[in-house]
Amino acid sequence: MSKTATLEINGQKHEFPLITGTENEVAIDIKTLRGATGGVTTIDPGYKNTGSCESGITFLNGEEGILRYRGYAIEDLADKADFLEVAYLLIFGELPTKVELEKFHADIKEESVVDDDIKKILDAFPKAAHPMGVLSSLTSALTAFNPSSVNVDSEEDMYKTVVKIMGKFPVLVAWAMRKKSGLPLNYGDDSLGYVENILKMMFGKPNGEYTQNKILVNALDKLLILHADHEQNCSTSTVRIVGSSHAGLFASLSAGISALWGPLHGGANQAVLEMLEAIKEDGGDTKKFMAKAKDKADPFRLMGFGHRVYKNFDPRAKIIKVAADEVLSDLGIEDPVLDIAKGLASEALSDEYFVKRKLYPNVDFYSGIIYRAMGIPVEMFTVMFALGRLPGWIAQWKEMRARKEPIGRPRQIYIGENHREFKTIDNR
Ligand code: SDX
Repeated sequence: MSKTATLEINGQKHEFPLITGTENEVAIDIKTLRGATGGVTTIDPGYKNTGSCESGITFLNGEEGILRYRGYAIEDLADKADFLEVAYLLIFGELPTKVELEKFHADIKEESVVDDDIKKILDAFPKAAHPMGVLSSLTSALTAFNPSSVNVDSEEDMYKTVVKIMGKFPVLVAWAMRKKSGLPLNYGDDSLGYVENILKMMFGKPNGEYTQNKILVNALDKLLILHADHEQNCSTSTVRIVGSSHAGLFASLSAGISALWGPLHGGANQAVLEMLEAIKEDGGDTKKFMAKAKDKADPFRLMGFGHRVYKNFDPRAKIIKVAADEVLSDLGIEDPVLDIAKGLASEALSDEYFVKRKLYPNVDFYSGIIYRAMGIPVEMFTVMFALGRLPGWIAQWKEMRARKEPIGRPRQIYIGENHREFKTIDNR
């Protein structure tokens, strides 16, 4: 492989270094492009061909359907680790020892109380408010109650801020859900495991003991692991670019939550369930909806299908599909929507339009079926995605700040009016 790429512009040749990553991915380093060429830049809507950074956190190979966190295969982590271990791995770079994990969890529990005045902000929301908007607002509000979390120039400050958000975020998630269901807010029980306590905070009733269901605990733990990071996706890129202005971590996370909310991104898991329900209500005619998805005149897309990077099966979708079968059968639930999903997937996987465009089920296609089986309301599905993605966002923000990345500020090609003389209002 040559060490440089040559670009010829107006008969002049310019050489740019090629950089190669540890998985042999190659990029043209164009840091000097504008200066070397007298102002020529690149343009790449949606950054389909553009790398924003070098990162050592997550590796994806979209053609082969590979996903690894810090070098560990997602299949191994989903099967053998728990979510807090994976969070530690993503944020600090290594799987924790038993002692390290116990200390991490103890430090998180120390910081899992939220200032009671946050409840006044939550109270101000209408019950009908979408929980993603509530979560984004409350996450940003955390800065006001934890001002020291903004300047994280030392490792110690960074660690304190990490355990603060790992402790408080699940509380905000549970409170956003309970606000909609009218249940009193609570803190669960910090003698429980991290994921057990999340379930108790979400579902505990004030008039009785909450009984843990191992099936639900394992299912949620696996789902959170599968959502924990995914390199430079839309919401993670948002967290990084907001943090690159040296805004605090909580403000950066709040922006990432808003980006994840969109139905083309994390909001797809809610959109998938709504689509499957619509197909069921419509008599289960999947062929009609497939035709709509292929009709360019129709804005309808097959939600949960397609991916910017995966041009093969999303490895997470494979794992979630198996888990959905297990959870439903363990819970003794017959969900016709799962059958519709399977029917849709098998039709799409043999349909020329989808095959040609390499559109496969993604992480959002089956996850909602498990969330629903767990009794989680559909409007909370994307909040659960954010709960899983939290450690990935933290890890990526921490890496961006540690590497002292410059403020993110893309260029553009102007296509508006050329200079024109001002006209006073009487002359317009
Ligand atoms: C996530 O980036 C990440 O890593 C994200 C994520 C993560 O973990 O962070 O993996 C999570 O966001 C998963 C994606 C969830 N979104 C959806 O399920 C929404 C439905 N999918 C699409 O909107 C779409 O596939 C995207 C947004 C996911 C990807 O869009 P791209 O890469 O910009 O691809 P594109 O829109 O250019 O599509 C290429 C072609 C187009 O047709 P042509 O113009 O070539 O004829 O494929 C078609 C698209 O119309 N197409 C679809 C389709 N997805 C793409 N047609 C019908 N249904 C679909 N779902």
